[in-house]
Amino acid sequence: MRYLTAGESHGPQLTTIIEGVPAGLTLFAEHINEDLARRQKGYGRGRRMQIEKDEVKILSGVRHGKTLGSPITLVVENRDWKHWTNIMGIEPLVDDTEEVKRKVTRPRPGHADLNGAIKYGHRDMRNVLERSSARETTVRVAAGAVAKRILSELGIRIASHVVEIGGVKAEHIAYTSLEELQRVTEQSPVRCFDAEAEKKMMAAIDEAKEKGDSIGGIVEVIVEGVPTGVGSYVHYDRKLDAKIAAAIVSINAFKGVEFGIGFEAARRFGSEVHDEIIWSKETGYTRKTNRLGGFEGGMTTGMPIVVRGVMKPIPTLYKPLMSVDIETKEPFAASIERSDSCAVPAASVVAEAVVAWEIAAAIVEQFGQDRMDLIIQNVENMRRYAKEF
Ligand SMILES: Cc1cc2nc3c(=O)[nH]c(=O)nc-3n(C[C@H](O)[C@H](O)[C@H](O)COP(=O)(O)O)c2cc1C
Repeated sequence: MRYLTAGESHGPQLTTIIEGVPAGLTLFAEHINEDLARRQKGYGRGRRMQIEKDEVKILSGVRHGKTLGSPITLVVENRDWKHWTNIMGIEPLVDDTEEVKRKVTRPRPGHADLNGAIKYGHRDMRNVLERSSARETTVRVAAGAVAKRILSELGIRIASHVVEIGGVKAEHIAYTSLEELQRVTEQSPVRCFDAEAEKKMMAAIDEAKEKGDSIGGIVEVIVEGVPTGVGSYVHYDRKLDAKIAAAIVSINAFKGVEFGIGFEAARRFGSEVHDEIIWSKETGYTRKTNRLGGFEGGMTTGMPIVVRGVMKPIPTLYKPLMSVDIETKEPFAASIERSDSCAVPAASVVAEAVVAWEIAAAIVEQFGQDRMDLIIQNVENMRRYAKEF
């Protein structure tokens, strides 16, 4: 499975074309809209989130609520397009004034603006920022929602939550089930399981906002029920943990990734890191602990996949950092396009989407590609085989 996304932040629409989704998967717009709404929530978001109210249109690849096996086209229209028809118009401008073009000549530190402008030769950095904006993650969440439908049919559960914002750590995250984790975090303005930490995180966001500053954090995605042996130890580019790591770091503003105890492994003895193998007739092979977060040798162990991603603070600041105007070469305070002060809660939904995509794609590749019913059978066979092995 693969997908491409297209569209500018303030252009008429965002589009994704998804190829390779098996036939016979139940898919409705509501499945996707639910996740689009989750991405738009979160304490610390700016005004645009309130006007947007994203909704998907499915334009191909689905008939009467079932996928056909042909490419699926998903479109999310820009509800504010009428205010951008001149600035972002496709046709050449009649009124070619600077005011109409809203030209950007001051690159914002921490954004793609300057490097992208140099790379493509754009003197107007709007040509860069319109595409590099995290608005693009809308359609990545849409593609992820399709992947989540595949996982759901295979009895694989996925959830995401926020474990740290601006240095405030969630301490009490001993959830009894993924369902409980999901239920609690969906109600939390910062998607945090720990109620005490939630309050402190919101206070930290308020403080940053007051100062005209921004804060980052850490999100965690958990996936349960993935059969043993998904991924590969045979080739570097088929290792599923590597694919997931790349997917996480590909999210705007994500700078790091870890599985299980992650970087903490560097500080422990081997005996305190590796997970001992046990066997019982009822469960087959499992591990006593899950410190490695569900991966050994680039393949799933059958234990929950636990992956964390680090998001840097949002780079656009109301208290702007200094930059240089590329026309005058004079120092200037970086221009503000629009900004959230913290997008970590929303980003956890994006992280969930990209992880879901990588796992679904690996399963479809490994267990047959064309028909959902055959994939379900093959996965069931693999589960039985692993248990009896
Ligand atoms: C959900 C989400 C929302 C974001 N919102 C903003 C924002 O409002 N303002 C901003 O400057 N950056 C925002 N970002 C981060 C930038 O898009 C990102 O830092 C920038 O494109 C540069 O890419 P890099 O940080 O990966 O190098 C957001 C990121 C995500 C994942």
